[in-house]
Amino acid sequence: MRFVVTAGPTREAIDPVRFISNRSSGKMGYAIAEAAVAAGHEVKLISGPASVAPPAGTKIISITTSDELHDEVHRTVRNCDVLVMCAAVSDYKPAKFQAQKMKKRKAPFALQLIPTRDILASLSRENRAYLVVGFAAETHDLESNARKKLLAKNCDMIVANDISRNDSGMESDDNAVTIFFRSGESKRISRAPKKIIARELVKIISKMLQKSLTKKSR
Ligand code: C5P
Repeated sequence: MRFVVTAGPTREAIDPVRFISNRSSGKMGYAIAEAAVAAGHEVKLISGPASVAPPAGTKIISITTSDELHDEVHRTVRNCDVLVMCAAVSDYKPAKFQAQKMKKRKAPFALQLIPTRDILASLSRENRAYLVVGFAAETHDLESNARKKLLAKNCDMIVANDISRNDSGMESDDNAVTIFFRSGESKRISRAPKKIIARELVKIISKMLQKSLTKKSR
């Protein structure tokens, strides 16, 4: 099967030396890419500036901004069986890029931000030949927020993690997730190293892919 996995943060430039980003390390997405390669799949890994080394055996496509990620996802999904959208895409970007480094000032100032494009929501669900796995990092109301995102972002399944805990989630080597499916079912994977969670996710995704391929060939 052909996997496209996105991972890591995006960076939205303010001026030539400053940017807006987030704490994503890329560890979860890289672990999924690694597990998919180990299971014999072909993997394209579209990665923001992550803090870990990329796994061997994947085709790496490096991006920096949410707009670059948007364009790369749209290009690569045409030839894939599953998109795993693990990247922590910045929700906002500066309204204007300052071409010259902004001068330090004593007075407070406001930076105008505009929303970035939602990449998952921009993918059409009609006649889609691939599965879409979304992620949701939540500090509260995990289940209701994740279920809303599953529908709003046209995902086939969404992997939600509680980032209010400081022993798992962002930057950590461990994670604990609950997967929500469109059927209404859910499955919890309790706290474990991200590499173990990744193996479990790849198994679940492969099973789902197999089912959808069997349905199509009938
Ligand atoms: O809305 P939220 O950022 O929590 O949604 C998370 C999911 O949506 C992740 O799968 C993330 O990769 C994706 N996302 C996206 N485009 C954005 C923001 C998030 O595709 N602009």
